[in-house]
Amino acid sequence: MKLVFLGPPGAGKGTLAAKAVELLQIPHISTGAIFRAAIAARTPLGIKVKEIIDAGKLVDDETTIALVRERLAAEDAQKGYILDGFPRTIAQADALDSFSKVDRVVNFDIPDGAVIERLSGRRVCKNCGANYHILFTKPKTEGRCDLCGGELYTRDDDQSDAIQRRLEVYRAQTAPLIEYYRRKGLLVDVDARPAVDQVIENFRKALKL
Ligand code: AP5
Ligand code: MG
Repeated sequence: MKLVFLGPPGAGKGTLAAKAVELLQIPHISTGAIFRAAIAARTPLGIKVKEIIDAGKLVDDETTIALVRERLAAEDAQKGYILDGFPRTIAQADALDSFSKVDRVVNFDIPDGAVIERLSGRRVCKNCGANYHILFTKPKTEGRCDLCGGELYTRDDDQSDAIQRRLEVYRAQTAPLIEYYRRKGLLVDVDARPAVDQVIENFRKALKL
């Protein structure tokens, strides 16, 4: 199963993907997570993209497409994948279509108010990237990851200016992909407003899993 997770920042794409990989046994490929790992490791890619990401803007298409093309060529992605946060522009979607045929595009439906609430309380594990929320999905021990014990931090792009910028960028550049994929007959809408367990249930029903 080759899936794309589409939706505004903070919709819960990463959270649901972490659960869905257990169900489907396919890799979760998040371009944002790959960029953040590169930033943490101070690789040339990380140095190039850090300011862009912190400001809530998009990394250029050429860099992002090359990264995904290479990642999808890996052995573990041949039986399927969950692409989280890619494509984000029409140019990226056209490029993806040229090197991989997607089965379904899951559109996370959620209003801006809920997104802002989710992003402003998010905490992320420095070590494994797992997502938590100070109210909705609390870790068992404050400040520590349940899965690996890593330290939890607030992403630099979860400051309010960057959140606003990300929402604007989403509306202008990414939201047109909803119609793009609907016209291709690939789009599946999932109501992302309820609690995590219910969103998983909505996802299972929508994909008949
Ligand atoms: P990326 O990492 O993809 O960020 P994003 O799209 O802005 O999405 P988020 O990770 O913020 O949100 P999410 O939907 O995964 O929500 P989460 O599960 O964490 O990209 C970061 C940056 O990288 C971009 O801005 C861009 O600069 C660059 N980039 C990445 N891909 C690119 C591309 N293709 N092209 C160009 N540039 C690119 O959930 C959010 C919070 O809500 C968490 O705290 C979680 O615990 C909580 N939560 C989740 N679900 C629920 C629920 N059902 N109920 C209550 N709380 C919930
Ligand atoms: Mg994410």
